[in-house]
Amino acid sequence: MKIAVDGPAGAGKSTISKILAGKLKINYLDTGAMYRAATYLTLVKKIALEDSSAIINAVKDCDIDFIDNEIFLNGNNVSEQIRSPEVNKAVAVISRIPEIRDIMVAKQKKIAEKSSVIMDGRDITTIVMPDADYKFYLDAPIDIRAERRFEELKAKGSLVDMEELKGDIAKRDFEDKNRETGPLVVAGDANVIDTSGLSIDEVTERMLNIIVKKVNRL
Ligand code: CDP
Repeated sequence: MKIAVDGPAGAGKSTISKILAGKLKINYLDTGAMYRAATYLTLVKKIALEDSSAIINAVKDCDIDFIDNEIFLNGNNVSEQIRSPEVNKAVAVISRIPEIRDIMVAKQKKIAEKSSVIMDGRDITTIVMPDADYKFYLDAPIDIRAERRFEELKAKGSLVDMEELKGDIAKRDFEDKNRETGPLVVAGDANVIDTSGLSIDEVTERMLNIIVKKVNRL
C-alpha cells in the first residue's frame, strides 16, 4: 500500500502520517527530513548557499538513513539539529536545486518500490509516488499553521517570535509553491483536507475513512 501526503508547513502532515503508519502497520518516510539533512550538511560544511555545485557534491557524497524514524547523516543522529531555525530558513534554498531533488527523489522512489509506505512532503503525490493508492493534500490557513508550529516549539522549550515565525513559514510556502522543479501543488486526484478546526485524531479518522472506503470497494 502506498500513501502520499503533501501540503504546506504546519498542516499536520508528519504527525498524522506517523500515526497512520502505526495504525496501518506500514513504514513512514519523512521526506522533509531528508532535505533538512542536506541543508544541515551544507551549513555545517560552511558552503555558501549560492554555491549549488559545492552543495550538490557534498550531498552526493553523504549517507542519509532512517532508523526507527530517526535520521542519520553519515552515521550521526541529526534528528534534533535538522529542526533548528537556521535550517528552517535555508531549507527552501537547498530544496529548489534540481540536482538535489533528483538525488532525494531517486532515494524515495527506491524506498517506495521496496515496501508499503506513507510518505509526506511537497512533491510526493505528483513526482515521487504519482501512482500512490491514496493521495492527500493537507492544508490550513497560515495563522493556524503558525500557531501550531508555535505550540510545538513552546512544548520543546523554545519561545520564538510569532510574527517572525509566521513570516518564515509564509516565505517557505511561497518558495516551495513557486520553484520550477517539484513545486508544491494540489494533485488533481488528491483528497484535499482543510485541517483547521480539526484535531489530529479527527484528521486521521477522515483519512482512514477514505482508505477503508476504497479498500472495501476493491
Ligand atoms: O515540517 P515542515 O512542514 O515545516 O517541513 P518539512 O516537511 O520538514 O520540509 C522542510 C522543507 O523541505 C520544505 O519547506 C521544502 O522546502 C522541502 N521539501 C521539499 O522540497 N520536498 C519534499 N518532498 C519535502 C520537503
